[in-house]
Amino acid sequence: MKTQDIQNLSIEMGISSDFRGSEGISKFLIHKKQKFQKLSLPEQDEFDKEALENPYLDSRVYNIAEDKEIKRVLVGIDISPEEVLIAKELGNIDLIIAHHPIGKGLAQLADVMSLQCDVLSYYGVPINISEGLMRERISEVAREVNSANHQRTVDAAKLLNFNLMNSHTPCDNLAAKFLKDLIENKNIDRVSDLINILKEIPEYKEAVKIGVGPKIFVGSPENHCGKIALAEITGGTEGSHKLYEKMAQAGIGTAVGMHISEEHKKEAEIANVNIVIAGHISSDSLGVNLFMDELEKQGIEIVPCSGFTRFSRVNNC
Ligand SMILES: [Fe+2]
Repeated sequence: MKTQDIQNLSIEMGISSDFRGSEGISKFLIHKKQKFQKLSLPEQDEFDKEALENPYLDSRVYNIAEDKEIKRVLVGIDISPEEVLIAKELGNIDLIIAHHPIGKGLAQLADVMSLQCDVLSYYGVPINISEGLMRERISEVAREVNSANHQRTVDAAKLLNFNLMNSHTPCDNLAAKFLKDLIENKNIDRVSDLINILKEIPEYKEAVKIGVGPKIFVGSPENHCGKIALAEITGGTEGSHKLYEKMAQAGIGTAVGMHISEEHKKEAEIANVNIVIAGHISSDSLGVNLFMDELEKQGIEIVPCSGFTRFSRVNNC
């Protein structure tokens, strides 16, 4: 596999685990094409053409220094110039894979956030409500990421001749699907039971050792879970804090997320929605591991770095 094949595999896996289903993704891409066709020629020139094929603009290839067969990859949750230097020190790294977006992928982070509306719709929140409340939050995130030094890591990879890509929402989709399947197949009574189930997952078990295992941020261990929603695992970054009330009205009793701000926590408390924070880097690792398993099956060696805890499930399946 070459870099672009690995990127294509990431997108394919992201689609197959997406809450919208492949039909939903097709509609999303058709909508983008229709919008593109309505643009003036100068606007079409500026338009990011990758948006017509890739439903996850926060996940891309940033540099192909040498278009070769990939045998060994350095994989990290955050790749910065430090990790690029680590790759150089280690030697024989054919490709660096980041989880969190960098470069143009970071600039386009807000583009994937509409997925959250579809996730909430899956759990019963009317789409008009989630779209209305998310609109403001999406534009806020677009402004937040605008000031970053987007190309810093990309420039380092170019200077040191490394192939560089990232897989963000595809991996978060894989983690969300994994957790959804695990939770939906079990009859989970109390919040403490949910925490115990999460702690059986190797990535979270490992996180417990450093004090960042699954935790209850809102609610108590004795609370009944009610309907559990994987509402805050995928879709770019945190959604709107105004959604908790609507989630409660849609019958969601417990939301499982990766992280939560204080403002969001307060709103969840008011709405009486239990919040279980599975863990940020551990949840990211779970999704990345599911992607890396496919590379391992192709005989690619995986070198973890930057918080990524590697657990292979290749021999368990
Ligand atoms: Fe993350």
